[in-house]
Amino acid sequence: MVKSNKTEKNDKRIKIAIITGAGSGMGRYFAYYAGKFAKDTDEIWLVGRNKRKLYKTASRIGRNCRCISADISKNEEYESLTKIIHEEAPDIRLLVNNAGIGIMGDFSRLSPEENRLMTDINCVALTRFMADCLPFMSRGSHIINMASAAAFLPQPGFAVYAASKSYVYSLSKALSRELRKKNIYVTAVCPGCVDTPFIGRAEKYVKMKDYKKPFMARANDVVLKAYRDSYSGRNVSVYGAGMNMFRIAARVLPDEFILRLFF
Ligand SMILES: NC(=O)c1ccc[n+]([C@@H]2O[C@H](COP(=O)([O-])OP(=O)(O)OC[C@H]3O[C@@H](n4cnc5c(N)ncnc54)[C@H](OP(=O)(O)O)[C@@H]3O)[C@@H](O)[C@H]2O)c1
Repeated sequence: MVKSNKTEKNDKRIKIAIITGAGSGMGRYFAYYAGKFAKDTDEIWLVGRNKRKLYKTASRIGRNCRCISADISKNEEYESLTKIIHEEAPDIRLLVNNAGIGIMGDFSRLSPEENRLMTDINCVALTRFMADCLPFMSRGSHIINMASAAAFLPQPGFAVYAASKSYVYSLSKALSRELRKKNIYVTAVCPGCVDTPFIGRAEKYVKMKDYKKPFMARANDVVLKAYRDSYSGRNVSVYGAGMNMFRIAARVLPDEFILRLFF
């Protein structure tokens, strides 16, 4: 784990926002709007596997960006990312843990490697990165973790993904309370289907169910809502009436009842 070498001259440290998965989909919008919400940042650090896509995001931002290519599921690359943080010892004002993958299909149809990757990226890397960034975060900073509405209910046919997002949801809510003492805000973002490259990648074996299509949200709208919720101190952000109703239904109705209706 990276250890903070914070000095007493905190004000001299560079203030940054870090966004993982900033090369596409919602990550791009998190990067575009980072300066609007985390107003006091000097630089925006963009993390993803594909440097060309990160540069594309950076070119639209029009302020200081640093592109760091790293596959956060690979130990060596993950450590090269945290080494940069350790060396620069920035004041992280905003951390957006957005990188994630999902592959639809029955558990036994997916390869063991695919099932493992979903937990490695969505859970393990997210947890490690929060732990490694936290020593560099101070009062008034924000952590936004990308969960999903899939966190609200077990999902046959998307089982590991939904379980991984339940983990993110639960972890974020717990940390939101733990870190309240330090005035660090944690928000779990729980959208339903969003129109991003994620859907095409997720449909490797199985197509998305038609009933979900009318609820497909725009990435731009989900991200703006996430930022507004985070900067209003909310620990959960759910975009759209449909998904808010789904969240309530998942709380009040037995899982089995909802699963029988939709799966
Ligand atoms: N779209 C939806 O319907 C939906 C709904 C709920 C939640 N989400 C969640 O929202 C987040 C963003 O997804 P999106 O919809 O914007 O789709 P996306 O365009 O596929 O974005 C996923 C991002 O994660 C990055 N990423 C994936 N694996 C990585 C790895 N090993 N190391 C570093 N970066 C990695 C990708 O970067 P590269 O491609 O450059 O590698 C990509 O930029 C994900 O956590 C996803 O689970 C999506």
